[in-house]
Amino acid sequence: MTDRQALIAGNWKMNGLTAAALAEAKALAEKLAANPHKAQVAICPPAILLAPLAASLSGSGILLGGQDCHAKASGAHTGDIAAEQLKDAGAACVIVGHSERRADHGETDAIVRAKAEAAHRAGLIAIVCLGETLAQRDGGETLKVVASQLRGSLPDDANAANTVIAYEPVWAIGTGRTPTLEQVAEVHALIRRELRARFDDGAGFRILYGGSVKPDNAAQLMAVADVDGALVGGASLKAGDFWPIIAAKG
Ligand code: 13P
Repeated sequence: MTDRQALIAGNWKMNGLTAAALAEAKALAEKLAANPHKAQVAICPPAILLAPLAASLSGSGILLGGQDCHAKASGAHTGDIAAEQLKDAGAACVIVGHSERRADHGETDAIVRAKAEAAHRAGLIAIVCLGETLAQRDGGETLKVVASQLRGSLPDDANAANTVIAYEPVWAIGTGRTPTLEQVAEVHALIRRELRARFDDGAGFRILYGGSVKPDNAAQLMAVADVDGALVGGASLKAGDFWPIIAAKG
């Protein structure tokens, strides 16, 4: 059996102004310092908040992450941010291929794969997101879609140390709906099989569940086999909601 340290990552999306964000992060750091916990904890704020959060969270053990990066290291790409720049601002990881990026910005598996490669080049952990739409779920295509996204989005240089997978059913994001525990188990088992088949250390990759994770369902979801933590949106914005989710892992 492989020991995988749970990762609980908060995706703040396009939320947070400096003063309030720093206050929530400080409250979380205080909770973590005062209470033993097993999981590794990450916050992925809007990129402009990385540097101030890095300064205020120094020594807290909380990892910081970006929400997206460009595939190139620098150049004429107005508005984009390179993985190297995220790293420079204090990030240790970066989310790539979130369904909101896939939908809002037309990101394909090939684009996501290039971004994951950029993350690795910069020394960041890539948190690679996958997940089916409701139409795909209703059409019985979930396993096919997730396997295909996984194959297309993961670069060959992925390994258990530099890559984390996040399974986020699109229809569960921000809706208050979650899949049944059986449905979560089925998809995570598929992802694990695919990882084992392709990578020597496939048993060691962490696979997170994301989509309406809340304090009252976190323990159940994270007790499912091959669920190695959570990627949390709305409930990560307040330390008072995020801490109980972290505590749910022990
Ligand atoms: P919610 O937890 O708000 O459903 O968002 C999940 C998500 O998209 C995390 O990346």
